[in-house]
Amino acid sequence: MRVITYGTFDLFHEGHRRLLERAKALGDHLTVGVTTQQYDDGRGKLNVRQSLMERVRSVEATGLADEVIVEEYEGQKIHDIQRLGIDIFAIGSDWTGKFDYLRDYCEVVYLERTRGISSTRLRDESQPSLNLGVVGAGRIARRFVREARFVSGVNIDAVHSRTPGRAKDFADELELGTVHDTYEGLLAACDAVYIATPHQYHYAQARAAIDAGRHVLCEKPVALTRADAEELYARADAAGVVLLEALKTAFLPGFQRMIGVARSGSIGDIRAVDATFTKLVPSGRELEGPDGGSLSELASYPLLAIIKLLGTQPDRMTTRSLRTQTGVDTFARIDLDFPHAIASATTGLGVKSEGDLVVSGTRGYLYVPAPWWLTEYFESRFEDPSHNRKFYVKMEGDGLRYEVAEFASMIRLGTAESYLLRREESVAIADMIERARRGAELPPDSAVMRTSTDSFPGRPGDTIHRI
Ligand code: CTP
Repeated sequence: MRVITYGTFDLFHEGHRRLLERAKALGDHLTVGVTTQQYDDGRGKLNVRQSLMERVRSVEATGLADEVIVEEYEGQKIHDIQRLGIDIFAIGSDWTGKFDYLRDYCEVVYLERTRGISSTRLRDESQPSLNLGVVGAGRIARRFVREARFVSGVNIDAVHSRTPGRAKDFADELELGTVHDTYEGLLAACDAVYIATPHQYHYAQARAAIDAGRHVLCEKPVALTRADAEELYARADAAGVVLLEALKTAFLPGFQRMIGVARSGSIGDIRAVDATFTKLVPSGRELEGPDGGSLSELASYPLLAIIKLLGTQPDRMTTRSLRTQTGVDTFARIDLDFPHAIASATTGLGVKSEGDLVVSGTRGYLYVPAPWWLTEYFESRFEDPSHNRKFYVKMEGDGLRYEVAEFASMIRLGTAESYLLRREESVAIADMIERARRGAELPPDSAVMRTSTDSFPGRPGDTIHRI
């Protein structure tokens, strides 16, 4: 009789060993499927500590598995069972009922789970949970708290807002234990903060938290000038704390995959990137004050894609923006010239457009449909359509949990920088937004397009002809 079982087998423990022993005893040949990180990410299991190879080695080291296979995608079990001629599928009792659908293919056995031990528990015990305080009580903070609950090892129980009544409502709605009337009070009570306040407060609040020795996850843009962003990262270094910009797209598995496919040469050399993000906002904070406008609100996303694909060093950038009487940009287009490529980032709060991303190459192009910043699907397309490919990478929840998981893992591992969003990239985004918005500081004139051009010192101004 051939038996199969599946699992993540992270931090291999006694419960795993006993499960494998009993599964093996059901027959005379045991196949063990071990999940890939991508598969676990896709089903929301974000904090797996060990690599696939380490986990496979642990299973092999038991001597109980006759064969180890890798589980990569949903629905694979049905295929494996038929392909490998499996008679019995065995799994722990925490899954009772969930795999009854496999009865069409083989016998299904649920084995009693060993009490008192799990990978989750081992992960939690090896690292005390992170006490993350929330600053700001708006929409994004609400979504964030809900999403962070899916990341083990992160505990959110405290909030501070400049408007105490809002913080109280926030805490009641999300069942948080403590409302801090002062920011200092929140900092004193937490290991780390998530800053989700209007843009103009990011720099000062991040700085205060860093100076108090707290790790900081700060909503984008982390600062509105290059100098402020650089200073924050330098301070974080000096204080030995993690500072991460909460630019959610950077941490999504689908976005990483898209960047990998684009940069692997499959569409040839990248010659153009066009990214658009618009969000119609009739009125409110985004359209007010010195820091409102589509550039400060939205440009981080298209600039992230452009920087990941073409680098942080354009030769020239031109911004055209449409502004209100008060000087707030309601629509903007940043054109960037790189040595061998051109790019455009389009943002709008008062103009609606198709929110897609196109990466054009010498052999083909990638098309990422709206909302490309929540990347789950993209296509590579070629002159000969028979070469076209479709890519689908599932995103759990609304995507915020991935930035939380990355932040927690950086703190746990003592990593100062995430390769998913390098400091240099975050600083370059702040720099470009600063330059683009400087154009918007020209004398305001209702519904008039304003243009500003920036050459980058030390780099030639007109290299686009080199293509
Ligand atoms: N298992 C078990 N007894 C335990 C823990 C796990 O019998 N105490 C079984 C599961 O039911 C499953 C297999 O071991 O059949 C692999 O489970 P896996 O999800 O890798 O382990 P967990 O410890 O449950 O992991 P996590 O806490 O991350 O869910």
